[in-house]
Amino acid sequence: MERLVIRGGKRLSGKMNVHGAKNSALPILAAALMTDDVCVIHNCPQLTDIEAAIKILEYLGCKVSRQADTVIVDSKGVNRYDIPDSLMREMRSSVVFLGSILSRMGRAQLSFPGGCEIGLRPIDLHISSIKRFGVEVKEEYGRLFFEVKGKLKATEIVLSFPSVGATENIMLTACCADGVTTVVNAAREPEISDLADFLNSCGAKIYGAGEGNLTIEGVKKLHSAEHTVIPDRIVATTYMCCAAVTNGSILIDNIVPSHLGLVLPTLEEMGCFISIDEKSNALMITAPPKLRRIKNIVTMPHPGFPTDAQAPLMAVASVAQGTSVFVENIFESRYKHASELARLGAKIKVEGKVAIVEGVECLSGASVMATDLRGGASLVIAGLCAKGKTEISNVYHIDRGYEELERQLRLVGADIKRKE
Ligand code: UD1
Repeated sequence: MERLVIRGGKRLSGKMNVHGAKNSALPILAAALMTDDVCVIHNCPQLTDIEAAIKILEYLGCKVSRQADTVIVDSKGVNRYDIPDSLMREMRSSVVFLGSILSRMGRAQLSFPGGCEIGLRPIDLHISSIKRFGVEVKEEYGRLFFEVKGKLKATEIVLSFPSVGATENIMLTACCADGVTTVVNAAREPEISDLADFLNSCGAKIYGAGEGNLTIEGVKKLHSAEHTVIPDRIVATTYMCCAAVTNGSILIDNIVPSHLGLVLPTLEEMGCFISIDEKSNALMITAPPKLRRIKNIVTMPHPGFPTDAQAPLMAVASVAQGTSVFVENIFESRYKHASELARLGAKIKVEGKVAIVEGVECLSGASVMATDLRGGASLVIAGLCAKGKTEISNVYHIDRGYEELERQLRLVGADIKRKE
């Protein structure tokens, strides 16, 4: 079992580089399956979740090769429509392959993703939306069987909640369906627009991505395309939080300022100074010696405050002056990191959706366990400012979403090592 060992208290300064967005690369890799051609995807991060997606593509019959951050998918040889249980379990978001397999093969078979570390994460919205395209769905012994007789038929969908995954599956299913599909209350995350951009460069006709209402004109076939994945806004947020807790001064390269939305004013409210260089897609964050509290953070679908940034910001609030209030509206059990932060001396009280964080003067190192991807990142942030040694176990959670996090942090002066 690998652990991260951090000796806290170093002031971070220098430059960090943000890799491509995991949550964009995953649906884009799934979409590449639909082209029956060769797609070249740049800025694809080297993460365990991405490797899991590549394994699924290979299992389905694609030839996949990687050259540094470029992944080349040749989907001419696709000959399967099922995802085995073992691959589904490697990554819950493998459900995003549903739409692309259905579109390519007319049927799909996968297992129920089930619960995960941050909540139940049902897929009822995915299934009810897919059914509207004329797809028959059967469930037997935890396996789901999808089949369409003839062509997928375009439809009108009103989502009761703007689910990111369900919106992606609808887009993938609708691209080559017969007719025009409309989606009301679609997710508006930047990753949705990135997927639409990729599909459109493959010949799809998707309009309104990022605006909440989508119109998708079905086309006969998609063709090959070359695409560069957007930078990962949550990685950028995590780096900013690392600077915030260490009185740091970091230049963060490869960002899209508009994707960082409410995270920027939140860190400014805490006393950080942020200057953005739109031309070079970079920002400079300089943190004060003592941070102020955040009045409240309420997670919401985009453009609201992102749920993935809640845990990193909670680590920051733990060492701010005053009391900060968090309300988690997206996932039902996304405060597991709170009890681990408490081991480092944070004062956090959780009641249902609400967490109240009373800032302390300083944290002190301890052995803690990453509970999930972003919860793990919050422990790294806390460890960077804690007095003494922090050891984080279950690092595999962090490796799902951060490429060489410790190397990036060492570049800016952190004392962090990976140990067996
Ligand atoms: C995606 C992101 C994840 C992010 C989340 C919200 C990926 C790979 N993951 O997850 O990092 O935290 O968006 O921004 O892109 N729900 C249902 N039924 C459904 C679908 C969703 O009840 O059929 C619920 C979920 O349980 C959750 C909420 O809706 O409580 C949000 O889920 P969703 O937007 O679908 O998130 P994901 O696509 O799973």
